[in-house]
Amino acid sequence: MSQPELLHVKGLRTYFYLDSKKVAKAVDGVDFTIKPGETVALVGESGSGKSITSLSIMKLVSKPGKIKEGSILFGDKDLLNMSEKQMARIRGNDIAMIFQEPMTALNPVFTIGEQIVETIVKHKKIHKKLAYEKAIELLKIVGFPRAEETMKEYPHQLSGGMRQRAMIAIAISCDPKLLIADEPTTALDVTIQAQILDLLNEMKRKFNMAILLITHDLGVVAEYADQVFVMYGGQIVEKTSVEELFENPKHPYTTGLLESLPDIDKDVTRLGAIKGSVPPSYSFPEGCRFYDRCPHAMDTCKEQNPELIEHETDHFVRCYLYD
Ligand SMILES: Nc1ncnc2c1ncn2[C@@H]1O[C@H](COP(=O)(O)OP(=O)(O)OP(=O)(O)O)[C@@H](O)[C@H]1O
Ligand SMILES: [Mg+2]
Repeated sequence: MSQPELLHVKGLRTYFYLDSKKVAKAVDGVDFTIKPGETVALVGESGSGKSITSLSIMKLVSKPGKIKEGSILFGDKDLLNMSEKQMARIRGNDIAMIFQEPMTALNPVFTIGEQIVETIVKHKKIHKKLAYEKAIELLKIVGFPRAEETMKEYPHQLSGGMRQRAMIAIAISCDPKLLIADEPTTALDVTIQAQILDLLNEMKRKFNMAILLITHDLGVVAEYADQVFVMYGGQIVEKTSVEELFENPKHPYTTGLLESLPDIDKDVTRLGAIKGSVPPSYSFPEGCRFYDRCPHAMDTCKEQNPELIEHETDHFVRCYLYD
C-alpha cells in the first residue's frame, strides 16, 4: 500500500441502454488500482467486460453506452470529471492504447512516418523536423532496422507483426505512464506474438510504463503480468499477484480457467473448457453470476451476489466459499 497509485478505478459502472427496458451492464461495479511500471492482466471469457473497462478508462465508450457511476483517478485527477478537451490531452500523452488489429487504428492513406510525426507534434508541441528524428529513433527502438525507409511506407506495406510494432511506436511516442493493450497479439501468429509481448515488456522496463494487458491467454499472463484481475459478468471475481493466482486460485471460475489449460505434467492434452456460458449482461441473476456453472454452488449463492473481499493479504475474491 506504500507505493503510490497510478490509476485507481472505483465503483465503475458502464451500461449500454439498449431500449427502454433492456440495459446491458457491461461493467458493473469494478474496483482496482495499477501502480507505476506494473503489468496488470485483465482476463475472462468473451463478453465479461474487459474491453469496455479499458474503453471507460479512455472515456471512449460509444452510444448507447454510458459511464453511469464511479471514479477513475489518474494521479490526483478524476478522469470522469474532465472535459473532452482535457481528456484529449490525456489520451496519447499519459494513457495510450493499442488494439488487436492495428489496421483499424492506423490511417491507410498516410505513411507510418507521417502518423508518428503527427502524434508527436500534436502532443509534444515540438518542431516537425525534431519530431521526424524522434520518430526514426522510435522505429529503431521497436525493431525496424531500416527505420528511414519504413517512415515512407504505408500501413498496407507492412506485415501484421510490423504494423503492431508501428502502433507501439506511436503509442509510446509521448512517453505514456499507462499503456492499455487490448488483445494486442491475438491476430498474429505464435512466434510474432511472443516477439511483440517481449517488445512491450522491454518498453515497460525502459520507460517505467505500466501496462494493462487484456488477454485470454493464461500462458501470457504467467509470463508477463505482475497482477491479475479475473473478470466475470461485468465484475472482478478475483484479483491478486500472478504467483498467488497460479499457486492458490480461489474463485471456482479461476480454477475452471486454470483447469482448462493444457497441463504438460499431468499429461492432459484436451482443453476442458468450463461448461455453460457467461450470462448475458442485460439479464444478470440476483445472486452470484457464476452460480449456474459453479461446481460448489450453495443456496446462499443464488440469493445474493457476494462482495469482492480481501480474504488473504492482497488476494481478493468474490465468493461465499471463503466466508
Ligand atoms: N456496443 C455495444 N452495444 C451493446 N452492448 C454492448 C456493446 N459493447 C459491449 N456490450 C456489452 O458489454 C459486454 C462486455 O463487452 P466487452 O466488449 O467489454 O467484452 P470483452 O470481455 O472485451 O469480450 P471479448 O473477449 O470478446 O473481447 C458484452 O457482453 C455486451 O453485452
Ligand atoms: Mg474485448
